[in-house]
Amino acid sequence: MMKRSLLIGTGSYLPARVVTNDELAQRMETSDDWIRQRTGIGQRHIAADGEMTSALATNAARGALERAGVPVSELDLIVVATTTPDDTFPSTATKVQHALGMTRGFAFDIQAVCAGFVYALATADNFLKAGQGRTALVIGAETFSRLLDWEDRSTCVLFGDGAGAVVLRSEDVEGASTAWGVLSTHLHSDGSARDILYVDGGPSSSGTVGHVRMEGKEVFRHAVSKLSNVIDEALTANGMTSDQVDWLIPHQANRRIIEAMAKRMGLPMTRVVCSIEKHANTSAASIPLALDQAARDGRVKSGDLVLMEAIGGGLAWGAGLVRIGLPTAGNQGQAKAMREEPAPIA
Ligand code: ACO
Repeated sequence: MMKRSLLIGTGSYLPARVVTNDELAQRMETSDDWIRQRTGIGQRHIAADGEMTSALATNAARGALERAGVPVSELDLIVVATTTPDDTFPSTATKVQHALGMTRGFAFDIQAVCAGFVYALATADNFLKAGQGRTALVIGAETFSRLLDWEDRSTCVLFGDGAGAVVLRSEDVEGASTAWGVLSTHLHSDGSARDILYVDGGPSSSGTVGHVRMEGKEVFRHAVSKLSNVIDEALTANGMTSDQVDWLIPHQANRRIIEAMAKRMGLPMTRVVCSIEKHANTSAASIPLALDQAARDGRVKSGDLVLMEAIGGGLAWGAGLVRIGLPTAGNQGQAKAMREEPAPIA
C-alpha cells in the first residue's frame, strides 16, 4: 500500500473586466499584432478596484470543492501560491480559510512566482504523503496587474489576473491505482539569475510594493532550456515517454515557449492546453486555471495523464506528473472510500 494524492476537483475564477490588446494600444505605443506575434496573448482579465487575490482564490476554491464533492469541514490544509498577497501579512491562505468558513486545520502561502502552483502542489502532496492531513486545497491566485508598471510596454502587456484551484485527497492505494494522482513533482531554483526577473520593491528592501522588471530575451532562453530539462526529469523519474502524456498543461507565459516545449516532447498542439490567448500570464494561477477550463470543456478527463511545468522569478522552476481523477472501478485495486465510477472532475 502507498499513499497517493488524488486530484479530485478543479475550479477557477477570472475577474469580470477584460482588457484587449487593442485597448492597451490606445493607451501606449503597442499593437495587437506585436503582442499576438511575440506572445500569443489576445486579452487579459484585470481585477476591479478593491477586488483582492483572496477573493479570486476563494471563488476558485469554492468551484473546486463543489466539483470534488468535498465539504469545507473535510479540509485539512490550504496552500495558496501567490506573488500578490492581499497584505504583507497575514497570509492570503488564512483569509481564504476564513472566507470558506474553515475553522480547523492550517493554511499558508507559497511564493515561487510563476512556478508557484507546481511548488504548492509539491508541498501539499508531501504533507499528504507524510500523513499530515488527508484533504488539501491547492490554489494559485494572482492580481499581477497590481505589480505592473503601466509605463513599461515590454512587461505590462504580458500579464493578467485570475485564480485556479484543485482539491487533493490522500488515499492508500496499491496495484494499478498507484498510477493515479500526483505521481511525482520536481522542483528547482537558482538565485544567481535573480536580476533578469524581479520586482523592484518589497517590505525589507524599499518599503514599497514595486514593479515587475524583466529581461525578456534572457528569461526566454532560460525558460526553454530549464523547462526541457525538468520535463525530461519528470518523465524519466516515472519510466515514461512523452507519448504517454495525454496533456501538457504548461505555465502560460509565452506561446512560443509553449510550442517549443510541445515540439521537444513531440506532442501536437492539440494535446497542449494553451489558454494564453484569453488569460495572458497569470503567474501562479495559470496552470490550475488552464486545467480547470480544459476539464470543464471536456478536453481533460478523469484518467488522463497531465504534465505540468512552469518557470518564474528566482529563478524557480518545476514540473509535476499527475493522473487526474479517481481510479476507475476496473483498476481501483484496494483503494478505499472511492466511488465505483470515475468521478467527473468538472
Ligand atoms: N509593443 C510593441 N513593441 C514592443 C513592446 C510592445 N508591447 N514591448 C517591447 N517592444 C519592442 C522593444 O522595444 C524592441 O524594440 P527595438 O528593437 O526597437 O529595441 C522590440 O519590441 C523587441 O523587443 P524584445 O524584448 O527583443 O522582444 P522579444 O521578441 O524578446 O519578446 C517578450 C519580448 C515577449 C517579453 C519575450 O522575450 C518573452 O516572452 N520572454 C519570456 C517571458 C517569460 O517567460 N517570463 C517568465 C515568467 S514571468 C514571471 O515569472 C513573473
